[in-house]
Amino acid sequence: MTEESTENPTQNPTLQEIAGRRVSRRVLLGGGLAVAAAGFIAGPGRQLFDSARPGPSDTRSTQSTEGDQKTSLLGFEAVAPSSEDALVVARGYTAQVLIPWGTPLLSSGPAWKNDASNTAAEQAQQIGMHHDGMHFFPSAPGPAGSSSGLLVLNHEYVDHTFLSPDGPTPMTADKVRKGLAALGVSVVAVALVDGVWRAVDSPLNRRITGTTPMMFSGPVPSNHPALAANHAPMGTLNNCANGHTPWGTYLTCEENWDGPFGTSARISLTKAEQRYGLSKGDENGWHTVDPRFDLAKNRNEPNRFGWVVEINPTDPESTPIKRTALGRIKHENAATVEAQDGRIVVYTGDDSNGEYLYKFVGTRPWRDHQAQGQSPLDHGVLHAARFGDDGQGAWLPLVHGRGPLTTAKGWADQADVLLRTRQAADAVGATKLDRPEWVAVHPAGGEVFVTLTNGSNGPTPINPRKPNTYGHIVRLREANGDQGAEAFAWDIFVLAGDPKYDSAVKLESADVFGSPDGLVVDPDGRLWIATDVSNSSLQRADRGYDRIGNNALLAAHPATGDIRRFLVGPRGCEITGMTLTPDQETLFVNIQHPGEATNAVGTPTPANPRAVSNWPDFDPAGRPRAATVAIRKEGGGKIGT
Ligand code: FEO
Ligand code: CA
Ligand code: CA
Ligand code: CA
Repeated sequence: MTEESTENPTQNPTLQEIAGRRVSRRVLLGGGLAVAAAGFIAGPGRQLFDSARPGPSDTRSTQSTEGDQKTSLLGFEAVAPSSEDALVVARGYTAQVLIPWGTPLLSSGPAWKNDASNTAAEQAQQIGMHHDGMHFFPSAPGPAGSSSGLLVLNHEYVDHTFLSPDGPTPMTADKVRKGLAALGVSVVAVALVDGVWRAVDSPLNRRITGTTPMMFSGPVPSNHPALAANHAPMGTLNNCANGHTPWGTYLTCEENWDGPFGTSARISLTKAEQRYGLSKGDENGWHTVDPRFDLAKNRNEPNRFGWVVEINPTDPESTPIKRTALGRIKHENAATVEAQDGRIVVYTGDDSNGEYLYKFVGTRPWRDHQAQGQSPLDHGVLHAARFGDDGQGAWLPLVHGRGPLTTAKGWADQADVLLRTRQAADAVGATKLDRPEWVAVHPAGGEVFVTLTNGSNGPTPINPRKPNTYGHIVRLREANGDQGAEAFAWDIFVLAGDPKYDSAVKLESADVFGSPDGLVVDPDGRLWIATDVSNSSLQRADRGYDRIGNNALLAAHPATGDIRRFLVGPRGCEITGMTLTPDQETLFVNIQHPGEATNAVGTPTPANPRAVSNWPDFDPAGRPRAATVAIRKEGGGKIGT
């Protein structure tokens, strides 16, 4: 989601000197991303079906001039900022809409109804709402894996203005049921046939929702007393971005999970509850009709959220597992790599103003854990980052009994440390950041990039502007180039913004952008930056956003710092979910919340859900819907060249 929620109340390090350095850049090209392709079993008699809308009618694109740009990292012609209600992609590329919200998971499933009158039971058999993080799992090693596979994607939140014919008022138990069915994760098989991506029927197609049975593993197991609530563990909520493991599983991250909880009862919230943003009001009034979300009636239910959840996309009967060793925060994504010795490493940001960056490091090489029947994500140490003002940093272990995390100081055990991860990181002295969003690791050289989307924790070296309305991208280099290291060096890769309003910004006018959020490094080293400027700021001169247009996808050259706009989304949306086929000839991107209320354009209502956007259908009786977009280069070739 766009807006920040809580403020970190602690006095953790604030550094006074403004730096904003850009260090020397070394060339990091070449090398391949070593990711184990997760094979999956295609069902017999798989049928193509035509639920998606393959027509690139909303795409502006013309034939590429090609040739001399083939070898360049940023070989495409930059797209200008746009405020139109259209998806615009670089010249020479096509963009095809795939699996919009409401698409039936199977061709025999319930059809989408454009007035939002599908029931909760129907929604549970359709693609969810507000697509966010996503990963493409190829069907096989080699070329076949670039033309068929599984897309696994998150559905971050629901907007009842679009979800129900009469909108959010009055809230009803049925509306909550439909909301829960629209959240979670979709697993859907896709195939490229005659140059067009289609969703296809597969026994692996699956919805995981806000009511799917769940298990917990690691230091906070399913039977831990803090997880005892009024019903068996179920559901994953507010799934923001994602990760994937070398062993072929998907990681989905619970972010703004405090949103659905509230109460009308006279209770006092604990410091630990408040530290996670829990409050008596909830964002949609769910607690008024569903006791599951009433803090007075089901006090431990929130403890079941804030985790990274592991899903095996190749086993549709498998129960998703919340991996508690990775901490309980508002997880943005889970960037997963191997340390030099084979231990698994997971970077994860906590997206609220003044929160921290984390890194989990496995105890032993992940293959050793698996050989012993253990999950590599259940055994290891979670760390929080301290950024020194000298450009050096340290990973601070969050281990019960070490440093301040002792029984004498009120920490019962490791489960307690993890259930209260934010407070544990406060205690060890982690560094407050301007809303850490995605983390991405360069496949050659291991540099770690982190988007800090915006915030108000500076001015300090790591958060050099206050207020920081545009955000920036930080780069870490782990000691000895090892992701398992306990120390790192850091610098600021780029300050986002518009030099018209901030002379510290070193972007050309055509490349201005704000609020970087999604971040992926492709196998060639292109850094893809997706933006999520708040719809309260978009297009507004008084916020310095009048030249930036709608949210966009840009590509950066890590070695030169060049940045180019590749794609602009329709009105009201954010861009997210970038994932590539192994041949890099298809880039899947998610267009989330098109048509959301936007200060500069308007406010959708149940009577006119099309007030801001009607993308992608442009159905005069329809409504905007999040969708995946498949981008390809006309005539073939890698995306970005
Ligand atoms: Fe779900 Fe921080 O974005
Ligand atoms: Ca958003
Ligand atoms: Ca964001
Ligand atoms: Ca995000």
